[in-house]
Amino acid sequence: MRRLLVALTATALTLAGTGVPAEAAPAPHRLAPAPGGPGIGDGYYPDYGNSGYDVSHYDVRLRYTPATDRLTGTTTILARATQDLSRFNLDFLLDVSSVTVNNRPATFAREGDHELVVTPARPVADGGAMTVVVRYAGVPSTEVGAGYTAWIRTPDGAIAVGEPEIAWWWYPSNDHPLDKATFDVSVSVPDGVEAISNGVMPRPPVRETLGYTRWSWRSTKPQASYLTFLTIGQYDVTTDTSADGQTVYNAYSQALPQDFRDAAQSSVERTSEIVDWQSTLFGPYPFEARGGVVTPPGTLGFALENQTRPTYSSAFFRRGSNTSVVVHENAHQWFGDSVSVADWQHIWLNEGFASYAEWLWSEKNEEGTAQEIFDYLYASSPDDAPIWTTAPADPGVPELFGDAVYDRGAMTLHQLRVAVGDDDFFEILRTWATEQRYGNATTAEFTALAEKISGKDLDALFQAWLYTPSKPVVAGTATLAE
Ligand code: ARG
Ligand code: ZN
Repeated sequence: MRRLLVALTATALTLAGTGVPAEAAPAPHRLAPAPGGPGIGDGYYPDYGNSGYDVSHYDVRLRYTPATDRLTGTTTILARATQDLSRFNLDFLLDVSSVTVNNRPATFAREGDHELVVTPARPVADGGAMTVVVRYAGVPSTEVGAGYTAWIRTPDGAIAVGEPEIAWWWYPSNDHPLDKATFDVSVSVPDGVEAISNGVMPRPPVRETLGYTRWSWRSTKPQASYLTFLTIGQYDVTTDTSADGQTVYNAYSQALPQDFRDAAQSSVERTSEIVDWQSTLFGPYPFEARGGVVTPPGTLGFALENQTRPTYSSAFFRRGSNTSVVVHENAHQWFGDSVSVADWQHIWLNEGFASYAEWLWSEKNEEGTAQEIFDYLYASSPDDAPIWTTAPADPGVPELFGDAVYDRGAMTLHQLRVAVGDDDFFEILRTWATEQRYGNATTAEFTALAEKISGKDLDALFQAWLYTPSKPVVAGTATLAE
C-alpha cells in the first residue's frame, strides 16, 4: 500500500520535473469520486458483497460471553479502492459505535438489514489504500438478516457457520466469494471455554485478565467470507501433524453423547488420510491446516466446508461413523474453497464435485461404483422431481442446495468421465484445481476446459445435464446426444 503511494508521488515529481504545469496534465478519465455500489454484481444476490474496493485482509478481534450472547469487537479491514471512492458499503448487522477510514472518523448509516454505508472524511483515490476500523457490539442471536438468524447460540457458546449468509452476524465484510482475503481472528472467551476458527494458531491461547482467555487463529491463503467460521463452547480437542507437516486440529463438543462421540471421532480423525487420498486425485491440498469440528447435538443442522476446518452437525454420526461427509467437506477445500464460485448460480461447481468425491470414495472402498450410484440415482426419481426439473447450472435460490445441484451435478461429472475416459477426466479435475487455484470460476470455464483437454465436442452432454430442466436420455452408460 505504501509502495503505491510512493509510486504516485514519484510520477507527480517527474511531471513537475518536466516543467509540465499541473493544470495542463489532462485527466479526462478522472471522474468526481463516486459511491461504491451496495452489491458486487451477483445474479442471485444483488446486494451481497459491494463494489468500489477490494479487501486483502481482515483482522477480527472479539470478546464473547456465552452467558449473555454478547459480542463486542473491532474489525480492521485492509483494502484498496477500485475507483475514486466517496463512500462505500460493508455488509454487517450488529450495532456499530464507530468507523474510521485511514485514521479519520467516518460517518456511517444503516440501509436495509445488512448494509452499512460508510462515508470517509475524505474520498479515497482509485488504487489508494484503505484501512477501515469498525467497532461494534451486539447480541448476534437476536439479529435477523435475509429473514433469519444464522448465528446459533448453543447451551455452552455459539456457532457462526453458514452459506451464503453468516459474516453479517459477527464481522463487517465485503461478503461475496469474489473478494477473498486473508484473516486473523482472535476471540476472548471465559477461561476454560474453547474458541475455534480457521487455519493455524499463531500463538497458543493466552490468559488475559478478568477471567478471559484469548484464542488466535490465522488463515494465510485467500478465504471467502462465508468460509470464515467461529465455534465457541466446551470442546475436546485432538491435535496431530500430517505427513507433510501440517497442523491437524479437531474438536468435539463435550455435549456429544459417548456413543456417537466415538462414531464422530472414528470419522473426523480420518481427515488427514482422506485429504492425502484426495491430493492424489485433485492435486496438492491448497491450504495450510486440516481438521474438523463436531458441534453440539440439536444446534447446527448441516455440515460446512469452512476453509481448513469443516464443521459437522453431530446428526451425521448419530447412527454410526460417516466418512462420506468428511470426504465431501474436504473435497470442497479444492472445489468451493480454493476454486470458488464467481456467482452463486455456479454452485454445482462446489456441490456436484464434492458429491462426486463421495462416489469416488465409495468406489475405492468397494461399497458401490460411481456407475452403480449413477444408475441408482438415474432410476430413483420421477420425471417431475426437482432433480430433473432444475438445471444445475442455473438452479435459482430456492434450489441452490437441492438435488439437482448435488446429485445431478455429480451425475454430470460421471457422464463426463464416461465420455472422456478416466485419464482425461482426472486430468480435467486436476487442471481445474490448479488453474483456478484461489480464484473464482464459472460453469462455462469448466466446460471449455473439459473440451480443451479431451479434444471432444461435449456441448450436447453439458446442454442435457447442466442447462436443460428435464431428465437427460442415457443409452447404456453414456448420454445420448440427440
Ligand atoms: N455447502 C454445504 C455442504 O454441502 C451445505 C450448506 C447448506 N447450507 C445451509 N444453510 N443449509 O457441505
Ligand atoms: Zn457440499
